[in-house]
Amino acid sequence: MKLLVTGGAGFIGSNFILYWFQKHPEDQIVNLDKLTYAGNLENLSSIKDNPKYSFAHGDICDPALVDKAMKDVDTVVHFAADSHVDRSILDPDPFIKTNIEGTYILLKAALKNKVKKFHHVSTDEVFGSLSLDSKDKFNEKTPYDPRSPYSASKASSDHLVRAFHETYELPITISNCSNNFGPYQFPEKLIPLAITNLMEGKKVPIYGDGLYIRDWLYVEDHCEAINLVLQKGKNGETYLVGGLTQDIPNIDIVKKILQVMGHDESSTEQVKDRPGHDRRYSIDWSKIKNELGWEPKHSFDQALKETVDWYKTNKNWWKHVKSGEYREYYKKQYDNA
Ligand code: NAD
Ligand code: TYD
Repeated sequence: MKLLVTGGAGFIGSNFILYWFQKHPEDQIVNLDKLTYAGNLENLSSIKDNPKYSFAHGDICDPALVDKAMKDVDTVVHFAADSHVDRSILDPDPFIKTNIEGTYILLKAALKNKVKKFHHVSTDEVFGSLSLDSKDKFNEKTPYDPRSPYSASKASSDHLVRAFHETYELPITISNCSNNFGPYQFPEKLIPLAITNLMEGKKVPIYGDGLYIRDWLYVEDHCEAINLVLQKGKNGETYLVGGLTQDIPNIDIVKKILQVMGHDESSTEQVKDRPGHDRRYSIDWSKIKNELGWEPKHSFDQALKETVDWYKTNKNWWKHVKSGEYREYYKKQYDNA
């Protein structure tokens, strides 16, 4: 089988490519990535000489290039996106372009090239915000209610993917997952930012009251869920993928990191809150469990320890990432805090 993976040099995409070659060494993978600030080919250095792997440097918004990359492809796994909420607040333009227009261009090329499966990787953020005092969880029937430029752009892309299935019978599946963490995550997201800041002797910034809740999912569990959806998922269906069974506020996530790394709460600082900050996300993943037999295999605490270890043993990776353009962004984001 030949797969086209978009955004394969990013956090989840690179974990997915490494996972896929372990499970399906006979398959061929083309990785189409623009190498934005978030794309890093170092993530894939262990497979760069694998003859089954090839890299196509380019933009999913370029129809001719996308059409070429789609030739003889059986399955598309679409990760490429601008993915960070805070950046979408500072400048929504690339989010609208890549996440909406880029997905549309991929869908047209997939139809033209008669791919057998188009899997779209999306987010639970399309469903908006749950309240702190409810026990509600998102499920596949929850109405869309995106509240940031990022989540609105992902919601638009989900609608386009479904429209191509309903209208043109493109064989699609969608997964909406919660916040991932694990190796190779760009240190702008909470967990790698906290770990690397502590290693650099900096404080961990906590937005607002810190009582925001995310449903943390270890990236390897996520890769396994996508694997199952590709093998056994039904065309046209959406599957929600989450990791936790209990609510853990950000402040407690940070306390766990402090504990694993031997720091105390003096290493945190409260900073200005994010505008429109979604209070709580929580996922009911019973559909993918009942229909495809998936459930997360990693406990949060164990996976967090492994993630801390990974950042400790891969200092060069994140030091490299934390230089240059990222520093400028960091300054803009936190200087007024
Ligand atoms: P990431 O930001 O780490 O990586 C995105 C990748 O896409 C990068 O390699 C980047 O170079 C590439 N890219 C960006 N614009 C492109 C373009 N126009 N053309 C080609 N390549 C382009 O993102 P991630 O965290 O790995 O997320 C992957 C997918 O999973 C995204 O679609 C995101 O919305 C979704 N998702 C992520 C999370 C999470 O917690 N990280 C949670 C839910 C859903
Ligand atoms: P983030 O990792 O940016 O993911 P998302 O916004 O997609 O959920 O943020 C996770 C949570 O952590 C969110 O509630 C915002 C909060 N947060 C902080 O408190 N401090 C930080 O420095 C960052 C980056 C996030």
